[in-house]
Amino acid sequence: MPSPIRVAITGAAGQIGYSLLFRIAAGDMLGSDQTISLRLLDIPASTSVLNGVLMELQDCAFPLLADVSITHDPVVAFDQVDLAILVGARPRSKGMERKDLLTANGEIFSTQGKILNQVAKRDAKILVVGNPANTNAYIAMKNAPDLPAENFSAMLRLDHNRALSQLAMKLGRPVAQIRKMVVWGNHSSTQLPDLYHAEINKNHVMQLIDDPAWIEGFFVPTVQQRGAKVIEARGLSSAASAANAAINHMRDWIFGTRQDDWVTMGVPSDGSYGIPEGVIYGFPVTCAGGKYSIVKELDIHPAYRDKLYSGYQELLEEQQVINHLLPQ
Ligand code: NAI
Repeated sequence: MPSPIRVAITGAAGQIGYSLLFRIAAGDMLGSDQTISLRLLDIPASTSVLNGVLMELQDCAFPLLADVSITHDPVVAFDQVDLAILVGARPRSKGMERKDLLTANGEIFSTQGKILNQVAKRDAKILVVGNPANTNAYIAMKNAPDLPAENFSAMLRLDHNRALSQLAMKLGRPVAQIRKMVVWGNHSSTQLPDLYHAEINKNHVMQLIDDPAWIEGFFVPTVQQRGAKVIEARGLSSAASAANAAINHMRDWIFGTRQDDWVTMGVPSDGSYGIPEGVIYGFPVTCAGGKYSIVKELDIHPAYRDKLYSGYQELLEEQQVINHLLPQ
């Protein structure tokens, strides 16, 4: 068996962590032949909870879990890591403005970016889940100038999966048959789920949808607002589905996407689709050999061109709020 892959997970005592860790340790992310060394990071106030999670991980006796450690020091957590999933972030508290949340979380990700820059493996793959995910990933990336920018990504996979499921339910077809879904832009309500490229068995799904009004009237807003609906129903934000999406994201990045398909990842723009460089934006990507490539030259539905740009503008506005956290 190959030597253990070091995986750091921040916010490990939180609710996404509680779904994520056990699935990773069971082999869902890296496969059944790969041992794992887990580094769990959380803040000192969460130490007791993290200790409980550690005990449960031990009690599972996972054959693939080579070792697991807990810490509140990012230098220890990120030391020589191969993979880092940055989930830990502050929730929005009562009376907190969006810009206060951006700044509070931006500080976490600027610190963690600097430390990853110092101690992570040079080819470490880093996924930011904690919100606002795109801007947090951007902050971490900018604070890690010695790591390639392509090592940093933000999670839009939950949005992508939500879009796949809504379409599968509409068409009464299995999710596995749907290919080429994309959710453009920011992981926020400005995101744009786009099924105009989607296919089932090489047929465009647009030819199968008998009710075009469903797309703008139901599909797009349902995917955009799904997170809020889950909170309304559960009293807590999406956790198991977010953990599942993080596993899907990492697994595809490492092992590659399906033939004739793509996935959505938040990655640094290279100028594709008129989105200027310098933001982390949801694009369709294929992955092979541990690298992603943005799928180029799709025909964008005319009504969507401005919407793609709106997502970019929102990201620019977020950047203005956290500009002081970027190396000048
Ligand atoms: P949670 O509040 O249950 O857990 C967050 C954990 O992060 C807590 O244990 C907290 O102590 C820890 N934490 C806070 N500051 C930290 C720091 N500086 N270093 C390490 N750990 C720190 O939250 P939950 O539900 O697990 O969600 C985590 C984040 O993921 C939130 O920002 C949430 O909005 C985001 N999220 C993103 C999704 C996406 O699709 N990108 C989907 C769902 C949630």
